[in-house]
Amino acid sequence: MERKSTEGFGMSFLSMLVFVLVASAATDTITPSRSIIDRETLVSSDETFELGFFSPGSSTKRYLGIWYKVSPETVVWIANREAPLLDRFGVLNVTKEGTIILLQEKTKIIWSSSRIRTPENPVMQLLDSGNLIVKDGNGSGSANFLWQSFDYPCDTLLPMMKLGKNFITGMNWSLSSWKSPNDPAPGQFLALIDPKGFPQLVVRNGSGILYRGGSWNGERFTGTPDLKQIESANLFKFEFELNRNEVYYKGEPYPALISRLSVNQSGFLERYVRTKQSELWMEIYSAPRDECDYYAVCGAYASCNTNNPAELCACLAGFEPKYPTEWDRLKWSGGCIRMTTPACQDSVFTKHNGLKLPDTSNSSFFKNMSLKECQVECSKNCSCTAYANSDIRNGGMGCLLWFGDLIDMRIYIDGRLVVRKNSSKNKEVAIIVIPIAIIGLVWGGIVLYLRWKKHTKQGGENDMELPVFDLGTIVKATDNFSDNNKLGQGGFGPVYKGTLREGQEIAVKRLSKSSGQGSEEFKNEVGLIAKLQHRNLVRLLGCSVQGDEKMLIYEYMPNKSLDYFIFDQTKGKILDWRRRMHIIDGIARGLLYLHQDSRLRIIHRDLKASNVLLDNDMCPKISDFGMARTIWGDQTEANTNKVVGTYGYMPPEYAVDGLFSIKSDVFSFGVLVLEIISGKKNRGFFHPEHSHNLVGHAWKLLMQEKPLQFVDCNLGDCFVLCEVIRCIHVGLLCVQKRPEDRPNMSSVVLMLGSENPLPQPKQPGFFTERNLPESESYSSTHHELASVNGVTISCLEAR
Ligand SMILES: *[C@@H]1O[C@H](CO)[C@@H](O)[C@H](O)[C@H]1NC(C)=O
Ligand SMILES: *[C@@H]1O[C@H](CO)[C@@H](O)[C@H](O)[C@H]1NC(C)=O
Ligand SMILES: *[C@@H]1O[C@H](CO)[C@@H](O)[C@H](O)[C@H]1NC(C)=O
Ligand SMILES: *[C@@H]1O[C@H](CO)[C@@H](O)[C@H](O)[C@H]1NC(C)=O
Ligand SMILES: *[C@@H]1O[C@H](CO)[C@@H](O)[C@H](O)[C@H]1NC(C)=O
Ligand SMILES: *[C@@H]1O[C@H](CO)[C@@H](O)[C@H](O)[C@H]1NC(C)=O
Ligand SMILES: *[C@@H]1O[C@H](CO)[C@@H](O)[C@H](O)[C@H]1NC(C)=O
Ligand SMILES: *[C@@H]1O[C@H](CO)[C@@H](O)[C@H](O)[C@H]1NC(C)=O
Repeated sequence: MERKSTEGFGMSFLSMLVFVLVASAATDTITPSRSIIDRETLVSSDETFELGFFSPGSSTKRYLGIWYKVSPETVVWIANREAPLLDRFGVLNVTKEGTIILLQEKTKIIWSSSRIRTPENPVMQLLDSGNLIVKDGNGSGSANFLWQSFDYPCDTLLPMMKLGKNFITGMNWSLSSWKSPNDPAPGQFLALIDPKGFPQLVVRNGSGILYRGGSWNGERFTGTPDLKQIESANLFKFEFELNRNEVYYKGEPYPALISRLSVNQSGFLERYVRTKQSELWMEIYSAPRDECDYYAVCGAYASCNTNNPAELCACLAGFEPKYPTEWDRLKWSGGCIRMTTPACQDSVFTKHNGLKLPDTSNSSFFKNMSLKECQVECSKNCSCTAYANSDIRNGGMGCLLWFGDLIDMRIYIDGRLVVRKNSSKNKEVAIIVIPIAIIGLVWGGIVLYLRWKKHTKQGGENDMELPVFDLGTIVKATDNFSDNNKLGQGGFGPVYKGTLREGQEIAVKRLSKSSGQGSEEFKNEVGLIAKLQHRNLVRLLGCSVQGDEKMLIYEYMPNKSLDYFIFDQTKGKILDWRRRMHIIDGIARGLLYLHQDSRLRIIHRDLKASNVLLDNDMCPKISDFGMARTIWGDQTEANTNKVVGTYGYMPPEYAVDGLFSIKSDVFSFGVLVLEIISGKKNRGFFHPEHSHNLVGHAWKLLMQEKPLQFVDCNLGDCFVLCEVIRCIHVGLLCVQKRPEDRPNMSSVVLMLGSENPLPQPKQPGFFTERNLPESESYSSTHHELASVNGVTISCLEAR
């Protein structure tokens, strides 16, 4: 007891001492008469930034850096990146001549700032912007600065810092990654505005290019579609300037949010924001964000498109693969060549829409030329391969000409991204024209807004209103529900693909008229469901009600549903073990959210492979969730006189007695997991040696300790054995006969993510059912929101 209190006293005395020391140093300014030693810091006047000595990661070396006072681990600038101090006796001085010097052993200068003239009264100050400056006397304007740290970025770009180049002084502002978490010396990744040709944002990996954000089109870099949306979502502001003297990109300070852009040790550009009060950073943007973002994945004259992983690259019209056999083997980097070489004089131009403009490092531009003049200019010179407006504003202006190969293009038709209603004005039209092939840019309203949503929505934002679309809009979007647009037949009605006027693709589910629910009731209920926001749930965008015509409008998922992949010999190869594991985990999390984390506590009741849609990144999204509840609102509790669901995924207690609970969903999840691992359907599974279904087969193999035989041969040898076994094991726990034996979804998520021992599964339910009606056509429905007609059943009065 005694000892403890003495210790307590010792501690508090020590912290008081530290407090006194720190407090005495809590100023933002030093002059030549003062210096800063290792344990002292400077703090900017609004206490946002702090300057002092630190050791990164597990290193013991000391660096002089600037960090956010509330999150000291976020270092934004370092003076001596390449010349660390080896002990804690470093001293920082500003000399009478106006240079900042960092001293080791009081005399040895290991780092110093540069100087353009000698001030009368040199003052070093840490500003609220995070800029460390040397100025002369009391003046505050930036013209007074003799030196500023903002001219020497490290890996982080703060608001008001420039990324670019001054052509007059030759000053470069670029970001270079840290070498490692323990070594802030410049690493191999460099983010810069490359001024060659028409300036563009690139991230270099050594001497090569890793990622190209592209040239500025008046509103954003052509390869960063989300930039504009992030701005219109009021997350930050920025400006771009290109004139005779300089080119730069710069973020502007924003009252409510603190924002930073950095290039991390893996070469990713990342933008983070946080509120002033919080020390929690949210990533709102990172690049490269998908395969197509990596530089020149498709080689020359080809465009990259993530919508179809099996055909990542496609030649532009008039071009063909340079190495067709390579191309067939999905090796794209050889690119494409012209089918026929046109005589220069009579070249024709073809227009292309929706592309990221190709590499502009060999381009010329003319700010005040029209597109017509631009074409004339391009026609004049036989080595001109393409042209486009350099600026998309005001319907397009300026002229950009390409000479040489067209490299690093991609298509941005990006169904997974959500467009806010008010950002649908679509004036962005630019055209680039190639002899034989023109490339035009019609921008479909693209947002990488999702990530931010993901982080913020869970916190609460409850008062979102659900857009109500008018019937006319939907009729137009789906071409009057034409059969061509029909994606499939869902459990509650047909599903159509539609395209809104502004280009956004949607999926429209037309509910069968017999729901018997009033319009207001329907809207309320749908409004609730619209608030279910999770990365593993398909997003409901709105609804439409007119008389007894009721429709739900969802985001459109171009990659179709899980069944389309896992049950197909060829497409199954696209889903390697990593992806499958990711999908299993995603479904588990989506279901957990429905069961527990959402305020509605929804039982899905029809979870199956065709109800799991895949987005561009093959991230799973559960669809049809909550609709059971919406339409038959009285059936959420213990039992029902109407069984909806799909044989093969239904637990015994539900199919036989109409009893259901969250544990029924757990059963369906277990079946789905086993299907994902084996690549086989539970229903219709056939084995020459026994009459069990897939679930029974899995159980048998696990009991016999032969789990490997269960694994989809499409996975080859590329999987992690213990993970596979664990998944089979968890799957079998989920399909146990008695609901009370099955784990709940939070346990499932934990079991999947840990290495703790698992309980032994008991015999599964329904493991040798053979007497239920065979599914006539388990046609792989091509679409989301569509359960397969023949399989989703509805038995009235099952009890
Ligand atoms: C650094 O500043 C201190 C006073 O704060 C002074 O005593 C010392 O001589 C200075 N060192 C150099 C190298 O200027
Ligand atoms: C700075 O301003 C203060 C008061 O405004 C004044 O007392 C001081 O002499 C000034 N110092 C210099 C170096 O101009
Ligand atoms: C700017 O960058 C170029 C090449 O990256 C380099 O040669 C040049 O020295 C740099 N200029 C300055 C002022 O840092
Ligand atoms: C960067 O370049 C090196 C050497 O060329 C290569 O090994 C590495 O994979 C590249 N890194 C990335 C992220 O592309
Ligand atoms: C770099 O950023 C990417 C994208 O945000 C992230 O996935 C990766 O883990 C980061 N790498 C490091 C070393 O921080
Ligand atoms: C630009 O021109 C240089 C020199 O001819 C060439 O090496 C480079 O590949 C060209 N870059 C592009 C993107 O066409
Ligand atoms: C832009 O056009 C105007 C009038 O046609 C011309 O006087 C001016 O020199 C042009 N500017 C440039 C940079 O070409
Ligand atoms: C065509 O453009 C290229 C690149 O700008 C230039 O080097 C060449 O001289 C031009 N040829 C003619 C005939 O204008």
